[in-house]
Amino acid sequence: MKRAVYPGSFDPVTRGHLDIIERAAALVDELVVGVLNNNAKIPLFSVEERVNMLNEVIRHIPNVRVEAFSGLSVDFVKSCGARFIVRGLRAVTDFEYELQMAQTNRSIDREIDTLFFTTALQYAYISSTIVKEVAFYGGDISGFVPECVVSHIERRISEKQRENKV
Ligand code: PNS
Repeated sequence: MKRAVYPGSFDPVTRGHLDIIERAAALVDELVVGVLNNNAKIPLFSVEERVNMLNEVIRHIPNVRVEAFSGLSVDFVKSCGARFIVRGLRAVTDFEYELQMAQTNRSIDREIDTLFFTTALQYAYISSTIVKEVAFYGGDISGFVPECVVSHIERRISEKQRENKV
């Protein structure tokens, strides 16, 4: 069975992520979306919330499953019985970091290769960070994230804004 892992923060999942998931899923028998439980970053959504949102948006793709992980991506990939890491490349600005990660991962484990997908042009400028920024200032994010994710973000941002006013 050809299995790949798409690791990331997905805080929150964007239309760009979903496009990569759909295209990668078409290439392998099973795609595991790995949601990093990263203690170093303060995310907008807990890892459980990110997994739940991803599960909502991948419902139409039968060979995709979503799992949380912590630690090294390569260890998670191995534990899934996979050999491939999937990542999206939006622009040259992504390249240096992505190359460094891919080379680091390969130097840790020679059996694991990274497959890069070029992000669809219409999503090339979208990032989770930009989505959060636009939402924070009340902008329309419906073109940036899957429909069912919009209300989750708006709700969380207004909760945060209320907390900060207290
Ligand atoms: O969505 P992101 O935040 O760009 O994803 C980055 C991610 C999760 C793929 C990367 O930070 C990662 O693999 N972290 C796990 C720790 C690890 O394996 N580090 C070594 C690779 S540099």
